[in-house]
Amino acid sequence: MKVMVVGGGGREHAVVWKIAQSPLVDRIVCAPGNPGIARHADTFSVAADDIDGLVDLAVREKVDLVVVGPELPLVLGIADRLEEKGILVCGPSREAAMLEGSKAFTKEILKKYGIPTAEFRIFDDYEEAKEYILSHSLPVVVKADGLAAGKGVGVCETFEDALDFLKKVMVDRVFGDAGKRVVIEECLFGEEASYIVFTDGEKIVPMPTSQDHKRIGDGDTGPNTGGMGAYSPAPVVTPEVEKKIQEKIFYPLLEGMRKEGKPFKGILYGGLMIKDGEPYVLEFNVRFGDPEAQPLVVRMKNDIVPILVDCAKGKLTDHVLEIDERASVCVVMSSGGYPGPYEKGFPITGLDEAEAMEDVVVFQAGTKLEDGRLVTWGGRVLGVTALGSSIREAIERAYQAVEKITWEGAYYRKDIGHRALAREGG
Ligand code: AMP
Ligand code: GLY
Repeated sequence: MKVMVVGGGGREHAVVWKIAQSPLVDRIVCAPGNPGIARHADTFSVAADDIDGLVDLAVREKVDLVVVGPELPLVLGIADRLEEKGILVCGPSREAAMLEGSKAFTKEILKKYGIPTAEFRIFDDYEEAKEYILSHSLPVVVKADGLAAGKGVGVCETFEDALDFLKKVMVDRVFGDAGKRVVIEECLFGEEASYIVFTDGEKIVPMPTSQDHKRIGDGDTGPNTGGMGAYSPAPVVTPEVEKKIQEKIFYPLLEGMRKEGKPFKGILYGGLMIKDGEPYVLEFNVRFGDPEAQPLVVRMKNDIVPILVDCAKGKLTDHVLEIDERASVCVVMSSGGYPGPYEKGFPITGLDEAEAMEDVVVFQAGTKLEDGRLVTWGGRVLGVTALGSSIREAIERAYQAVEKITWEGAYYRKDIGHRALAREGG
């Protein structure tokens, strides 16, 4: 069969790499892709938000299945458009993608179906939001309702910071219309984890647990990024916690979405806070995590394609994921300056050497081929991913690989996996 993947980052390289191992697949098409993806797929320079262009491409290339990496095309309704053309798509409808497209929508659903999450209020009016913030306890969390590339959340320690963030969102509109409405909520404390499942709207096939590192600096300091690294499994999610995540969060949510007439199919990602063994929802994403997909796919032993097809058909049969018992870690290497302004076009060296290491896979994100040379072309450039018999070994191997690679201004966090290590007792 022919499979098309939408997107061109590290997550999409990981998904394409995994799909390429399937004996069921004879061709992969990817838009827009990147040089890493182009090793396994025919890439086309159609942007991930060009819905008409992507639908045309899928029709023209006669693909049997489309897998959507980023949230934006899903929120723009690509799944509905592809289905109109009779093409299977592993991803939710526009209405179900609201679980990521609108934080207010999600909070209302969570409340209606009794799913644990932070206490909240929703505001369309700036003055009312201001007044509410001043009556709130600290810290207080302010969230732009719509898509803001992971930057629309302010966890504010002071009223000054909270009002400042609110003004940026609602008045200055730094995230555009995403800031017409805000959610103001209680701050939750605990440890975060990502729980990602395949679902047909009713059944779930959970992927292994994982955790990402959103801040740019070691020790979780500095501004938020798209994600500077991730690892799997996340020891904070014990079997008991996992049972609660499924029974108190995922099943009631999927049932609620069906009752609302917005059944969700595809890949559902719960961003969770685990406090005293109880899981709370911070957010939902309607797709794989980036960079969580990278350490997840290297642990997945079975063919991913039959599961993607079943999700797309809305009919998951009894899949049991075979998971490599080893741990995996992905260290993201980024351009110097990211998540602020950065320069691009620097030649990348040492990649072959890193890739020659056993149990190491380097996924590409912001890269470009220029006169046959691989150069940096984005904020997050590479996701250096390794397996190890323990989380410690996986971390060591990933960093050994990272140290072989360089370019001018290359940056990476030195402490990916630190929480898991602490739980292992050092
Ligand atoms: P979100 O996009 O809603 O997941 O928010 C991005 C990040 O902000 C999360 O990964 C958390 O680190 C943090 N965050 C969001 N909501 C809360 C909350 N209610 N309490 C504490 N931290 C939060
Ligand atoms: N790793 C966070 C995300 O994919 O949204």
